[in-house]
Amino acid sequence: MTLERVKLKDKKILNNLIQLYLHNLSQNFKIDFDSKKGLYIYEDISKYFINDNDIPLFIKDEDNILGFILLNLSEKENIVQELFILNNYKRLGYGKKAITEVFNTYKGNWCIKVVPCTPNSENFWINTVNEYTKGKYKLERTGKYNRAEIYFNN
Ligand SMILES: CC(C)(COP(=O)(O)OP(=O)(O)OC[C@H]1O[C@@H](n2cnc3c(N)ncnc32)[C@H](O)[C@@H]1OP(=O)(O)O)[C@@H](O)C(=O)NCCC(=O)NCCS
Repeated sequence: MTLERVKLKDKKILNNLIQLYLHNLSQNFKIDFDSKKGLYIYEDISKYFINDNDIPLFIKDEDNILGFILLNLSEKENIVQELFILNNYKRLGYGKKAITEVFNTYKGNWCIKVVPCTPNSENFWINTVNEYTKGKYKLERTGKYNRAEIYFNN
């Protein structure tokens, strides 16, 4: 498994993957859908190709895309904005391996806002961060969905 920064020429591939990701999330949580375009609504991803600290990564095995990660890094806080593993590759350890590599590469104050109402994702994040930090993380719950937020420093 390797992490590869997404190049501008592959922006369309990333947008396609984001649609699959949003469809996946919509199993548990309502995601707005634009019926005129046949697309889930997501922010413009241009910043990932302009700012050094907004980092789009493909998770790959040789030429095969396994998933993607979007990161927003800053002095104040490093945010894992999105993480997605394609169905064919789920539950094979790729998500954990990829995000552990991210934590080993980028240091600082990490914040992960887990997608609400999705016990599998919550389980993934708590398991992965607990293992990485050896239990030294903070878990908070916020808002009407009791959303899990995970904080740690590395
Ligand atoms: C969440 C997600 C990234 C996990 O990726 P993955 O590569 O399948 O996860 P891994 O194989 O690395 O799993 C590591 C651990 O997380 C937990 N986990 C992962 N998927 C799980 C599931 N479906 N149900 C329960 N626990 C799960 C397990 O503890 C697992 O360890 P184990 O397999 O030894 O029991 C993937 O399921 C996904 O893309 N989901 C849809 C998008 C999403 O929810 N992203 C997170 C947004 S906050």
